[in-house]
Amino acid sequence: MSLQVKRLAHGLGAEVTGIDLNEDVPAPTIADVRKAWLQHQVLVFPGQDVAPERHIAFSRQFGEIDPVSFGPRFRHPDHPEIMLISNKPQKGQPSQTRNQGRQWHSDTSFSLRPATGSLLHCLELPDVGGDTMFTNMYMAYDALSEVMKKMLEDLWAVHDSTNTKDARKRDPEVLAELRKINPLVAQPVVRTHPETGRKALYVSEGQTTHIVGMTDEESAAILGFLFEHAVQPEFIYRHRWSQHDIVMWDNRCAMHLAVRYDMTKTRHMHRTTLKGEPSGYLYQPQ
Ligand code: SIN
Repeated sequence: MSLQVKRLAHGLGAEVTGIDLNEDVPAPTIADVRKAWLQHQVLVFPGQDVAPERHIAFSRQFGEIDPVSFGPRFRHPDHPEIMLISNKPQKGQPSQTRNQGRQWHSDTSFSLRPATGSLLHCLELPDVGGDTMFTNMYMAYDALSEVMKKMLEDLWAVHDSTNTKDARKRDPEVLAELRKINPLVAQPVVRTHPETGRKALYVSEGQTTHIVGMTDEESAAILGFLFEHAVQPEFIYRHRWSQHDIVMWDNRCAMHLAVRYDMTKTRHMHRTTLKGEPSGYLYQPQ
């Protein structure tokens, strides 16, 4: 079987076929997948009806899994490496991740080892809706003027795991737990991708609260501009899920957003999150 990679959009994204994740994937094929992932930022593997063990094993080919940053309550009961992103009640309570990712974000940017990749497996989905959108943060950076690029070059911004609208609505106990696991972290506003060497914007509406050293007004104006600038239609790929798609993305140069849908319909996904290279520093509010 030979790997086929077909682009899905102008902005980013490619479909990968000719691979069966129920089989052990040979090292040269893994190397080809890695190459395609670095090039296209988002890879869609259709028709991969895999058990959690195979999802975990495939994810490990691309790095160490981070089972911690998203908090213990969101873990799969039998597979702590997997985060459940689901609107199915958990132990008789509404799921804490039923509204996960409703604002643009890069996974675990609030950590000192922010995620390289995430791999999301769709197990159940509504007949319509429940899409995920991705945007290309290299393109967003490249489209800025040279003057703006120069101004952003040495700026740092604070990332907070409890900043998203969804997180703020969570049970206070869960919020406190998340804050304890993930103290505030500052990340560069422009991040150089450690593998490709390309520069990408690294701020998000979901997780970035302010720019270090600026007044609230200055910071809000610049971040507001960057949040809007980064999600122009030509930078975006919108994925309409089919059951057993696995989508793998690169958080260092792409953001994503889970589009709101009819929550009376089940949407149930498994995510692995790969621990990234060290980045940023612990931020102490003044
Ligand atoms: C996420 O990883 O933030 C959620 C993506 C999704 O559920 O579509």
